[in-house]
Amino acid sequence: AVGESANLTEVEHKVTLEARARANGHQGGVLWLTGLSGAGKSTIAMELERRLFLRGWQVTVLDGDNVRTGLNADLGFAEADRAENIRRVGEVAHLFAKAGMLVIASFISPYAADRERVRAIDPDAFHEIHIATDLAECERRDPKGLYKKARAGAIPDFTGISAPYEEPAEPDLRLRTAGRTVDEAVAELQAYVERELGLS
Ligand code: PPS
Repeated sequence: AVGESANLTEVEHKVTLEARARANGHQGGVLWLTGLSGAGKSTIAMELERRLFLRGWQVTVLDGDNVRTGLNADLGFAEADRAENIRRVGEVAHLFAKAGMLVIASFISPYAADRERVRAIDPDAFHEIHIATDLAECERRDPKGLYKKARAGAIPDFTGISAPYEEPAEPDLRLRTAGRTVDEAVAELQAYVERELGLS
């Protein structure tokens, strides 16, 4: 059957996670940003990537809009498609983390069960960050004009309007953005990352 693992044997790396961490000066991991459309996930992800890169970190961003034009071009926004989107990018993110990188994953990921499946791949390496911008503020910002379209009925299954967003109950960090600059929000997240994943 598809997915059957009975005839598969895991191959071991000769380069250990510890050796990678020592060479990089930080541990690998998955920093999972979840939040509504317009919450600021991509902006925060790209600014954090820039700052960590300047400090010599092995870091990259996986972002919903980008991944959906390639790897996940076959997926839409129905519940099952979102689950598959998150499953695939979750696997990819953990692969990069095992290569020693810090992966900043920026996806609405509205279903708690989908996020928990990604955590379960390697719980120690997974950090759930709630970009906690409420619906009213996201709709006020409406950076892509999507809420306006969704309210007009032009986008089916739009998160927060006609599809659910399940807030993380106990995220590793709940990052407030309302009434703060991007710099202020990113500084808080960077401090978390350096504390949790930095070596020195
Ligand atoms: S998910 O729920 O995690 O699978 O979504 P994700 O891969 O992060 O993709 C979200 C971006 O897709 C655009 N878009 C929509 N979002 C939500 N609902 C619907 N129906 C939808 N249709 C298109 C939108 O640009 C999202 O980007 P962000 O950056 O979150 O606004």
